[in-house]
Amino acid sequence: MLTKEKNDQITQTGPGTPMGDVYRRYWLPALLAEELPEANCPPVRVQILSEFLVGFRDSEGRLGLIDEFCAHRCVSLWFGRNEDKGLRCPYHGWKFDINGQCIDVPSESPEFCKNIKLQSYPLVERGGVLWTYMGPPDKQPPLPEYEFCTVPATRRFISKRHQESNWLQALEGGIDSSHVSFLHSSNLEDDPLFKSAGGNKYNIQDLQPVFEVVETQGGIVIGARRNAEDDQYYWRITPFLIPSYTQVPPRGDHPVHGHFWIPIDDDNCWAWSYDYKPDRDLTEKEIWAMSQGKGVHCEYVPGTYIPKANKDNNYLMDREAQRMGSTYSGVEGIAIQDGSLQESMVGINPITGRRVAWGGTVDRTKEALAPTDKGIMMARRKMFDAIDALAKNDETPPGVDPEQQKVRSVSTLLKRDKVFHEEVEEVLRVNPGTGHTSV
Ligand code: FES
Ligand SMILES: [Fe+2]
Repeated sequence: MLTKEKNDQITQTGPGTPMGDVYRRYWLPALLAEELPEANCPPVRVQILSEFLVGFRDSEGRLGLIDEFCAHRCVSLWFGRNEDKGLRCPYHGWKFDINGQCIDVPSESPEFCKNIKLQSYPLVERGGVLWTYMGPPDKQPPLPEYEFCTVPATRRFISKRHQESNWLQALEGGIDSSHVSFLHSSNLEDDPLFKSAGGNKYNIQDLQPVFEVVETQGGIVIGARRNAEDDQYYWRITPFLIPSYTQVPPRGDHPVHGHFWIPIDDDNCWAWSYDYKPDRDLTEKEIWAMSQGKGVHCEYVPGTYIPKANKDNNYLMDREAQRMGSTYSGVEGIAIQDGSLQESMVGINPITGRRVAWGGTVDRTKEALAPTDKGIMMARRKMFDAIDALAKNDETPPGVDPEQQKVRSVSTLLKRDKVFHEEVEEVLRVNPGTGHTSV
């Protein structure tokens, strides 16, 4: 459990907050490349770390991420006219370039613009994602090297979905391997992106995984072991990088997936989900399944990134499926099974289905952690350390260095007397063009 003060410190990421300062040292996924597909396309609202921004691609194809609100009288530039090297406010025609610099005020002389500039952040395309860096310019690190964004486009699939909860409880679901044997148990053998992997049976058979956690330069590695035949353990090994990057251990030859959880504000986040294969193209069948919401992806309300099954329709809860066991929780699909429970951790008004007053963050003063939560405990400790080191000594947080981002998940069978992190040290590192170690 955490005190209220500690819970606030680690979950809040707005400007000037300690964890917000940590987040602002990384390149963060801001938009899918498909959201700004071509020069002069419509601008897109971007809310991230409680800042209101607008992203656009100007007439030259250059990307910009600037303050959403016009410097004149604060109209949203989402209404802006994207024309000739800038975004023009439709109220009185002030125009801003991709750096937020005002370049035209039709009612005044050119001199008038010079000192008018909106906040702006770099926006860079890499691996199908538009990344931004919102921290001190002199601390801007090299571009990210997470493996999924370095492989060719034919080898990856990336999606995002809106989640109505604080980012931390979403992340904590991602590094908690023990829930898979319950919440996702039915999916292991019926989801096309999970089924038939050799390791699935161990997840189903052994409901008492034992966790071992090891610190790494960029975060932690969590090993969850379950009993297997022949004096072996089945190990599922998950790397976590600060602030919120994970990779789920692979299953057979299926594409490997993982997540990034990016705060929109303290009550909402984007659950980014990627799938990739470093050693082969994704098949048509796999891409079709992902686009249909299978695996860690989801179906949407058309024209949005809001899940089709959401709080407003009780996640299409099917009590009969729950009773029969065709889904363990009664909710369909891995992504929504996770999202529904993480959104449920705060109070819901029984009449409206909306959250009650205290927002989207779970009250960690009330939790009772168990040994299976070892990874969560260690991840929090690492983040508190990062918060302190940055606040007190301006120390760059773990995981900012792109070398530390070149990590992989692993699933493997090891003799019971082996020390897991010693055995897999090499295969936890990215080896471009080769496949993951997977059972
Ligand atoms: S409010 Fe934007 S130009 Fe006046
Ligand atoms: Fe899950």
